[in-house]
Amino acid sequence: MEKISIAIDGPASSGKSTVAKILASDYGFIYVDTGAMYRTITYLAIKHQVAFSNEEKLAELAIDYPITFKQSAHGQLVFVDDEDITMAIRQPDVTAAVSEVSAHGKVREKLVEAQRKLATAGGIVMDGRDIGTTVLPQAEVKIFLIASVEERAQRRYKENQAKGIEMDFEMIKEAIAKRDYLDSHREVSPLIQAEDALLVDTTGMSIVQVVGKIKAIVTSKGF
Ligand code: CDP
Ligand code: CDP
Repeated sequence: MEKISIAIDGPASSGKSTVAKILASDYGFIYVDTGAMYRTITYLAIKHQVAFSNEEKLAELAIDYPITFKQSAHGQLVFVDDEDITMAIRQPDVTAAVSEVSAHGKVREKLVEAQRKLATAGGIVMDGRDIGTTVLPQAEVKIFLIASVEERAQRRYKENQAKGIEMDFEMIKEAIAKRDYLDSHREVSPLIQAEDALLVDTTGMSIVQVVGKIKAIVTSKGF
């Protein structure tokens, strides 16, 4: 397999990270979860009591605490310094604030720079909101994954249940819709489908079906 770049963008719970991980593993590519990077800055802001409106200080956090991804038998782990923050960055307090933090241009500038460095060697599957439009506009394959908000909330609800987290379905749906709105309406690199991205509506589709569809797209492009 040629060492191409595959960009996967889309709203919350559309299945980006799940399918990106499978594709990366099947193709022998590196997987980069850019959402984890914005979540890390948000986690650090909470930890160091930096206001979510303080653009300068938030951008400094991105410089002072380089993020590293490590592979383990349980999947990809996220570290800053020697601290494993894989679980901490998925907590509701981080999720509730991440869209506000990620809207700042200076924060994005720092993280986009780091994301591009991770992609220099090629052979990459990167997921996020602005990968096809801003981070890797030259990516050979661009996918824009969507699903109805009802189904996306249902997926998160089931995921929480499996982890033993009790969270009201309507609250999950509201939180997803709010994050979608903020992510799509910010000034800097909003969530939009790149002109050359292919739309895949995953409503009613299983993970296996979505992976199959994306692989067919990759093949159809001659890779
Ligand atoms: O997995 P989930 O859909 O909950 O979100 P995520 O991919 O972990 O991303 C968390 C948040 O980070 C998003 O809601 C965006 O506000 C922000 N984000 C972004 O602005 N740009 C990216 N490339 C990736 C994430
Ligand atoms: O990364 P993103 O927020 O876009 O979504 P995800 O974390 O990959 O997927 C959210 C949840 O939906 C996970 O529990 C997946 O297993 C599930 N999922 C699904 O049930 N069917 C799909 N076609 C894709 C994801």
